[in-house]
Amino acid sequence: MKKEFFGIEIDLDKIPQHIGIIMDGNGRWAKEKGLERHKGHEKGYQVLKDIVEFNKEVGIKTLSFYAFSTENWNRPEKEINFLFSLAKKLATEYRKTLLENKIRLTIYGSKDRLPQDLVNTLWDIEEETKEFNNYTLNMVFNYGGRKEIIDGVKKVIDDIKNNKINIEELNEEKFSSYLYHPEIPDVDLLIRTSGELRISNFLLWKVAYAEIWVTKTFWPDFTPKEFIEAIKNYTERERRFGKV
Ligand code: IPE
Ligand code: IPE
Ligand code: MG
Repeated sequence: MKKEFFGIEIDLDKIPQHIGIIMDGNGRWAKEKGLERHKGHEKGYQVLKDIVEFNKEVGIKTLSFYAFSTENWNRPEKEINFLFSLAKKLATEYRKTLLENKIRLTIYGSKDRLPQDLVNTLWDIEEETKEFNNYTLNMVFNYGGRKEIIDGVKKVIDDIKNNKINIEELNEEKFSSYLYHPEIPDVDLLIRTSGELRISNFLLWKVAYAEIWVTKTFWPDFTPKEFIEAIKNYTERERRFGKV
């Protein structure tokens, strides 16, 4: 089935199942306007909501947004706290919209080092929305790809020690089940804003065969139209997965 958005025709049978977005450039967007960095994050938060809202028309089954990386702990405390307050806002103020639209919210990351009240707020909403299947809004938060893999390895070792699995059984599929949210499929399309050409420790296991699309636009200026352009471009690519 085909559908048109902003004059761009999309073949809905070919759209990605899972789009991962590295929302980057909030700080530079603010700086360019002579504003403080947190203004960029504030606007970025609005853009995230706009894309989630717009996705109702498109129907991507899983949208992952990189909101806070394990490396972002190296930022000034004030900025970290601001980012945490936005995450909390998503789980509180935005909660109503999620419930009304039957959007499942998953938190993809670690609870380590986070303030307890934030942990409660975030993982409570995950619990509350877990039966929804319209689509999944996956917040990649307090996340590092290497940490996810190490956390998985530790769980595997525990299970081996307790005779729950034996080493011979371990293959890619089995190991995937030890990562965060194994039910979330691999990333098909990875979007990064602000022109940076790197992965920055994002969903390492799941991006193994992702198609990458980068725009120079800073995240606070990102629009549904650009989202559609990325999807259009994806539908025209040939994914070979190592085959000829
Ligand atoms: C992305 O924007 C938001 C987060 C990392 C949370 P940045 O804050 O990295 O903005 P730049 O890259 O400094 O412009
Ligand atoms: C990646 O952006 C992390 C998030 C978007 C949360 P960064 O701005 O932290 O990444 P680097 O430092 O440019 O690689
Ligand atoms: Mg950045």
